[in-house]
Amino acid sequence: MIIRSLRTNLNLLLALGFFNSCGLVHALDFDCHVTVNDLKFDLTSMGGEHILNRTRSTPPTTMIDSLRFDLCADLKRMDYLSEHDQCSSNTRVCLTKVNQKDKETDRVTAVIPVAESSSVEVEFTVSNEPKSLTIQFHGGTYAGTSTKQTLNLTVFCDPDKLSDPQFIGYDGSRVDVEWHGPPGCSFAEAPKDGGNEGKEGEKPSEGGGKPPDESVGSGIGWFFLVILIALLTYFGLGAYYKYSTYGASGLDLIPHRDFWKEVPYMLSDVFSHLCASSRPRRAARSGYISV
Ligand SMILES: *[C@@H]1O[C@H](CO)[C@@H](O)[C@H](O)[C@H]1NC(C)=O
Ligand SMILES: *[C@@H]1O[C@H](CO)[C@@H](O)[C@H](O)[C@H]1NC(C)=O
Repeated sequence: MIIRSLRTNLNLLLALGFFNSCGLVHALDFDCHVTVNDLKFDLTSMGGEHILNRTRSTPPTTMIDSLRFDLCADLKRMDYLSEHDQCSSNTRVCLTKVNQKDKETDRVTAVIPVAESSSVEVEFTVSNEPKSLTIQFHGGTYAGTSTKQTLNLTVFCDPDKLSDPQFIGYDGSRVDVEWHGPPGCSFAEAPKDGGNEGKEGEKPSEGGGKPPDESVGSGIGWFFLVILIALLTYFGLGAYYKYSTYGASGLDLIPHRDFWKEVPYMLSDVFSHLCASSRPRRAARSGYISV
């Protein structure tokens, strides 16, 4: 029990220290409601499919990096593209590279599933300078490279209006996208009104969801800590008293030794009754207790 209470306190420390600024969640739970450290974000207005193109001149051709994503749901199939020119159907973020050459048909040269909802991890980071929320989708690997494909989407707080997302760059594994709008602004958590907040939006919130559990856990932790200290004080002072008064030594130092000798028998008695009876309460009461 003591070990458990210490672990509870450790978890509390972890929760305070780590999850405050950052939360991890599995993508399947992610429905565009985010809670990080009691700060709530509503990203639903950023949902729906977006296509961002970035054009690079590579004479005699032109490369178009085309980023297609939907934060809140899986992407739909594109009927006019063949199967191998698009990501599979459970993908949320898909990057394709298209090569264009005059008088020739476009050639899709790479299809990169940046985030497939079956395997992705979503990570949130809140920043105050400037006010923003960063969402990172960590997906799988692509074409034998060891680094995970990641969508790094930063939403800067702009209470007035939602801008269009901007494709900042792709370095071979990390897609950077920036966005400005109200979803980047947090709103404080509504006061707790009796577990009435069990909406799906609560799920992604490691940060916001944990503290209530943790405070209960830490209460129990402190309870056992106080009992432990009380016991240590009792045995310490008792032993000192016996030593200084009667010059006791060894097992004789234990205060109320006769009583403590009985305790194991009492406990085993209680437990044997508990196990033997289908009604534990009655059994416990009828258990033999030494006075
Ligand atoms: C982006 O590029 C793709 C591939 O060339 C093209 O089909 C699509 O129309 C472009 N979208 C925009 C918004 O420019
Ligand atoms: C994500 O993008 C933001 C803004 O574009 C940038 O400041 C930040 O360093 C990027 N994060 C990572 C992990 O590269």
